[in-house]
Amino acid sequence: MQLGVGTAPGKVILFGEHAVVYGRPALAAPVTQVCATAVVEPGETGSGLVIDALNLHCRVTLDDAGHPLAEVARLALHRLGLSPPDWRISLTSTIPIASGLGSGAAVSAAIVRDLARAAGRELAPAAVSDIVFQVELLHHGTPSGVDNAVIAYGQPVYFVRGQPPQPFAICRPFIVAIGDTGIASPTKITVGDVRAGWLAEPAQIEMLFDRAASITEAARQAIAGGAPHELGPLMDANHALLVEMGVSNPQLERLVRAARVAGAGGAKLSGGGRGGNMISLVTPETAGRVADALRAAGAVRVIVTEIG
Ligand code: MEV
Repeated sequence: MQLGVGTAPGKVILFGEHAVVYGRPALAAPVTQVCATAVVEPGETGSGLVIDALNLHCRVTLDDAGHPLAEVARLALHRLGLSPPDWRISLTSTIPIASGLGSGAAVSAAIVRDLARAAGRELAPAAVSDIVFQVELLHHGTPSGVDNAVIAYGQPVYFVRGQPPQPFAICRPFIVAIGDTGIASPTKITVGDVRAGWLAEPAQIEMLFDRAASITEAARQAIAGGAPHELGPLMDANHALLVEMGVSNPQLERLVRAARVAGAGGAKLSGGGRGGNMISLVTPETAGRVADALRAAGAVRVIVTEIG
């Protein structure tokens, strides 16, 4: 017997990753082709709350202090005013881990939602986002909060650290082809490396962040003005800045180049970098060709998704 089900999508950062950690804006969107799902059922009497992470083949209980799954469950129960029930959560996810698609935040959001539903409650996106952010803080050092925001709201967001996310309407939907290098790259490491660069040469890195902010604002205008074709050159420009920040790698460069050569309007890495995913702007006419080119250039998975 199911007591509650919670789901949460993956996400892509469209513009502004890394700069967003330093107060500049970012644009991000959910990716609904991949998701995390958590299902709550009654557990055995006296079992307490048990989480079976089926993809990871591991079982976590609230006694596993410091484990992200135990932490998110503990925070959610606290928010709901529940003492630990005898429940079993089955957790599955189709979001690749450490690939820039927000797998950790989505898994957390799915657990928060299924616990709320099992308790007969529905938490607002801001409450879900807040709990997920606290878990991200424990495990990712200095997250900006953009990942938990876009995943909890399930809508494209304009995000500035420390401010409520601004979901935005997309009047003319556009299509991105997402190519996965297959290289797991924990965000914490690239964020730490950018910080080291910023500490060594603050003026130079701040200038890159300012340029990224201008690009993100221009992209926001293009989306609001119904001119998504303008996003391609902006993706290229944002990617060049990320290269200067030192977060690209040869595999990402190969995929970005392949997408452009195959006719994408522009392309950039997305998320923490040094692996994970890249995105490219395509049309219904170019999507198939770009997806094939990405696979031929080594992408282990390609997702074509409409934003809007
Ligand atoms: C990760 O999806 C985006 C980064 O900007 C990190 C963050 O915002 O916390 C690289």
